[in-house]
Amino acid sequence: MRPAAFLAATLVACTSLVSAKRVIITVGANKTADPSQVFSPQSVQANIGDTVTFNFTNGSYSATQADFASPCIFITKVNTTIPGFDTGTQATNNGTAPHTYDVPITDNSTKWYFDFNGCSKGVVGVINVNDSTGQTLAGFTRNAIRLNGTASSSSARPSATGGSNSSNGAGTSTTSSSSGGSSSSDGSVARNAILGTAAALPLAVIALML
Ligand SMILES: *[C@@H]1O[C@H](CO)[C@@H](O)[C@H](O)[C@H]1NC(C)=O
Ligand SMILES: *[C@@H]1O[C@H](CO)[C@@H](O)[C@H](O)[C@H]1NC(C)=O
Ligand SMILES: *[C@@H]1O[C@H](CO)[C@@H](O)[C@H](O)[C@H]1NC(C)=O
Ligand SMILES: *[C@@H]1O[C@H](CO)[C@@H](O)[C@H](O)[C@H]1NC(C)=O
Ligand SMILES: *[C@@H]1O[C@H](CO)[C@@H](O)[C@H](O)[C@H]1NC(C)=O
Ligand SMILES: *[C@@H]1O[C@H](CO)[C@@H](O)[C@H](O)[C@H]1NC(C)=O
Ligand SMILES: *[C@@H]1O[C@H](CO)[C@@H](O)[C@H](O)[C@H]1NC(C)=O
Ligand SMILES: *[C@@H]1O[C@H](CO)[C@@H](O)[C@H](O)[C@H]1NC(C)=O
Ligand SMILES: *[C@@H]1O[C@H](CO)[C@@H](O)[C@H](O)[C@H]1NC(C)=O
Repeated sequence: MRPAAFLAATLVACTSLVSAKRVIITVGANKTADPSQVFSPQSVQANIGDTVTFNFTNGSYSATQADFASPCIFITKVNTTIPGFDTGTQATNNGTAPHTYDVPITDNSTKWYFDFNGCSKGVVGVINVNDSTGQTLAGFTRNAIRLNGTASSSSARPSATGGSNSSNGAGTSTTSSSSGGSSSSDGSVARNAILGTAAALPLAVIALML
């Protein structure tokens, strides 16, 4: 029976190897002004064992996980038990330095995410939307725009964008070309700004009920 058991285990291993796939989300390739085109495709499905790969091809964006109810806040700031993913702001030097960031999929949960600078414009996306929950990409986008991120305080805005203008968050390629290799510091600046605005959360919850 042992050989049979071994064979079965091997088959299982091979099956999962074959079925594990890479799901690529291209970021910033579409140079139209449409915020829904920054993450493309904007909604993907991935199974446990798959890898979602964000391919940053142009502009300067982050892919940062959020809770549905708090569209523009890093999810770990909302619920410290959820590690979440956060690529930090990834500069591409005007498209000359594309690079990728992998998010391994280890559970079934829906993963909403946003771009730090463009969230208030609706630069958001989702992995594994669950149609039976009523939480839709359209709803998430609407909340992101309505709540305008969490950076409602004037002090958070300028630092979150590193001197670029938050109202043009969907097109930040000039920022990326001037910032050179400092993408990680961009990202942490943005995160610090988000920390300072956690108090806006109750407002977000209220707005969702309207
Ligand atoms: C870019 O976005 C525009 C506007 O949404 C869309 O019509 C077009 O098909 C997109 N192009 C590509 C290559 O995805
Ligand atoms: C990412 O995009 C770049 C530029 O379009 C392309 O050359 C590269 O093959 C892409 N990488 C992946 C993993 O798709
Ligand atoms: C935080 O996330 C955990 C795991 O998903 C969940 O069980 C818990 O209820 C959440 N806490 C809050 C305050 O939402
Ligand atoms: C990146 O976007 C800028 C601004 O739209 C464009 O001028 C440039 O050609 C793009 N670079 C690449 C490699 O596509
Ligand atoms: C993921 O979803 C499938 C289908 O609903 C279910 O059979 C499986 O147990 C789930 N796995 C986890 C880890 O939740
Ligand atoms: C989708 O949502 C339904 C209803 O809340 C839930 O029963 C189901 O387990 C969810 N599926 C996954 C894969 O999380
Ligand atoms: C987002 O906030 C900025 C700065 O406070 C403001 O100028 C802009 O009108 C807001 N946008 C939306 C959609 O609320
Ligand atoms: C931000 O951009 C808007 C519209 O492009 C402009 O009116 C405003 O003066 C800019 N603010 C800063 C601080 O650059
Ligand atoms: C980006 O690259 C394009 C050519 O690919 C060039 O026309 C444009 O001026 C560059 N923009 C910046 C800000 O360097």
